[in-house]
Amino acid sequence: AMNDIVVLNDASIIVDNDGIIAAVGPSSEISEKFKDATFEKEIDATGRCVIPGLVDCHTHPVYAGDRVQEYRMKLEGATYMDIHKIGGGIGFTVRHVAQTSEDELLALTKPRLMTMMRHGTTLADCKSGYGLVTEQEIKLLKVLQRAKKEVPLDIVMNLLAAHSVPEGYTADEATEMIVKEMIPKVIEMKKEGKLDVELIDAFCEKNIYEVAQTERIMLEGKKNGLGINFHADELSALGGAEMGARIGALGMSHLECISDKGMRLMAEHKSVAILLPTTAWIMHLTPPPARKMIELNVPVAVASDYNPNAYCMSMPFVMNLSCILMGMTMNEALVAGTLNAAASLGHSDMYGSLEVGKFGDMLILDAPQWEHLFYRISDEPILKVIKKGKVIDF
Ligand code: NIG
Ligand code: FE
Repeated sequence: AMNDIVVLNDASIIVDNDGIIAAVGPSSEISEKFKDATFEKEIDATGRCVIPGLVDCHTHPVYAGDRVQEYRMKLEGATYMDIHKIGGGIGFTVRHVAQTSEDELLALTKPRLMTMMRHGTTLADCKSGYGLVTEQEIKLLKVLQRAKKEVPLDIVMNLLAAHSVPEGYTADEATEMIVKEMIPKVIEMKKEGKLDVELIDAFCEKNIYEVAQTERIMLEGKKNGLGINFHADELSALGGAEMGARIGALGMSHLECISDKGMRLMAEHKSVAILLPTTAWIMHLTPPPARKMIELNVPVAVASDYNPNAYCMSMPFVMNLSCILMGMTMNEALVAGTLNAAASLGHSDMYGSLEVGKFGDMLILDAPQWEHLFYRISDEPILKVIKKGKVIDF
């Protein structure tokens, strides 16, 4: 049903004092129904259009040190794995993060989150993942916990426990450490109200974490109440999607190399495929089979994958690439960057569409039709970002 969107002409939306949508519909009906109400603020969007706030369901915003030098190497022919093997890539960022304090990381992260908002994102999955060992991963989660209070963006914290194998460990030893030490510690802090972690993630890939190791980590997270949402089948067809669908993953990301069986199982178990066109584009990968997924009824979401490898914080650009590189229709891309993205995080009850009872998160576009949002490449017509009924100041 990704093409079924409703466009109302001449509509009004009412958001209540709790930031929840109280009414949405034709202006004449709403005016009549609320004729005796007084409003704290009214916004006239005549001639413009209003769409749901965008949901970026895969980002890695807490890091230090840029990787522009690696970008150059990739353009000159190096692959992601070539760089990984010589200690670059995730390893480079992990070394920088280890030398950066929590306060410094927070100072780096907050403007990134505000940039995401300026591009229309109102809810984001934010992963840890550049710590690899317990103490460092907790440092990253604490940064996100503080950012949640200091930035108006809504954040779903995702413990990316197994992003790469830490130095001095084998993948088996690291799996053991994550299951026996890292997850219990994070869960203990969650129970004490110190970390609102909701999801668990891993990089399930050949020579990183194999399917069995990833499964063990995911199940340990699930047992402790975390939603499963991990990187699968990006650079090789390992069978991550099949495993994830079977164990009830809310979503799996990348999937450039997913098998037909993986797609059928994801459709059957309603696992959301989180596609990341920026990564495929930058790394010259064959993009994931979005059309085939949609035909097979896999719910498809798209996300920026913002990280030092894929430096993009703009969901409108991601949605443009979804159409151009992956053959999605504009309606499908809109749903993929809003409602389906929210579903992949377990939050479609409150986010992702303009419906009564959901948060009043929306964008006012200075454009006569919503399609201008990703038609106007790199100059998005976002006039206002509204979060729970309040206009965000930038
Ligand atoms: O989703 N594939 C693994 N993780 C990230 C990249 C992280 C990095 O290179 O720093 C991704 O693309
Ligand atoms: Fe990622």
